[in-house]
Amino acid sequence: MTSEPSFGACGKCDPREIAHIWETVSVPLGERSYDILVGPGLLSELPALLDEFRPGRKFILVTDSNVADFLAHDLVALFESAGMNVPVVTFPAGEESKCMDTIVSMAREMIALGADRGSVILALGGGVTGDMAGFLASVFMRGIEFIQLPTTLLAQVDSSVGGKTGVDLPEGKNLLGTFAQPARVYADIGVLCTLPARELRNGIAEVIKYGMIWSEDLFSMLEDNWWDVINLEPLTTAEIVKQSCTIKADVVSRDEREGGLRRILNFGHTAGHAVEASSDYSIPHGEAVSMGMMVAACISRNRGLLPPEAVSRLKALLQRFGLPTSIPGTVTDEDIIRLIQHDKKVRDGKVHFVLCNAIGKTLIADDVSSEEVIRAVTEVRG
Ligand SMILES: NC(=O)c1ccc[n+]([C@@H]2O[C@H](COP(=O)([O-])OP(=O)(O)OC[C@H]3O[C@@H](n4cnc5c(N)ncnc54)[C@H](O)[C@@H]3O)[C@@H](O)[C@H]2O)c1
Ligand SMILES: [Zn+2]
Repeated sequence: MTSEPSFGACGKCDPREIAHIWETVSVPLGERSYDILVGPGLLSELPALLDEFRPGRKFILVTDSNVADFLAHDLVALFESAGMNVPVVTFPAGEESKCMDTIVSMAREMIALGADRGSVILALGGGVTGDMAGFLASVFMRGIEFIQLPTTLLAQVDSSVGGKTGVDLPEGKNLLGTFAQPARVYADIGVLCTLPARELRNGIAEVIKYGMIWSEDLFSMLEDNWWDVINLEPLTTAEIVKQSCTIKADVVSRDEREGGLRRILNFGHTAGHAVEASSDYSIPHGEAVSMGMMVAACISRNRGLLPPEAVSRLKALLQRFGLPTSIPGTVTDEDIIRLIQHDKKVRDGKVHFVLCNAIGKTLIADDVSSEEVIRAVTEVRG
């Protein structure tokens, strides 16, 4: 006897009962506009949802080795039962795979599978899958369509939205990439149940960032509902994913190619990237961004921009979610300053720091001195 595939192992999300909470966020970018659908049970409905992209188009599912095991096989079975033949192209899970060698071998596999200019890539997985599948789609036969099916919280609230694709070089992360918008994003929150706590925290750090840069309402919602967020209560989870996507869509649609406003999405990332790189990436991105947000908030407070209570609220919220608010001694001040100077956000020799003048309001400063950074880092060390 075969059982119907169900996506979301926790049983909290019965798609038949709560499908009505699907929400749509539009990303208005002229002819590159697209919708993000958020809610539980989307993957179970995918064959029908993809109808509008047919007929006659070949779908190819790109995923990593972990997601292949616990999601992709079920999804392929679902496609088969709907009369669709969707081949799977898999790569080994992990950031180490995010390189040109993987792109080339996936492209060759696609050719062997008979992919053509009308084919559509379905990117099922976290940010690594989305970044690579998007990159592959943007260069395969000079560009084909792709649909994001993000399965980590970070991918649902951040990497699947905005159209940045990328692969790493030995010299650094995301040094090769394109701007390529997906045709659609289906963020099925039901699949987050299997996510390890550390991966969940990576995504939550970005959600807190959105609250700090754009929406005190979102920030307060996280303060009031932190328990439901940690427990992935479906309505709360759908709401925070929707609000995060709305904020990112709003920012990206005003500045698609990071000429100005989009830089505010880097709040916490200037010092955060330095911490991440200095630890040789043993400190996960979300934890490094958490420390980086504390540094940016302290610089803002020391400049008299941000009230001390706001810094305390940020610290308390990060701690609620088990995110670190203190920089470990193994990451030295010198490393941080050196790595900040090498960051992509340095333009004309000046470090661009995203600061806050209230929870939900930002400004970009291009005159933050090394002394200010070191003072804030020292305060964050506690
Ligand atoms: N394009 C952008 O705008 C953008 C923005 C932020 C981050 N990124 C990129 O995103 C990447 C990080 O994304 P990530 O944190 O999702 O990493 P990831 O894709 O490596 O996923 C993390 C781990 O979770 C596993 N996983 C995925 N879905 C799961 C699920 N539902 N249950 C259990 N495990 C699951 C994956 O197999 C992997 O082992 C980085 O490469 C970063 O550069 C891109
Ligand atoms: Zn980030």
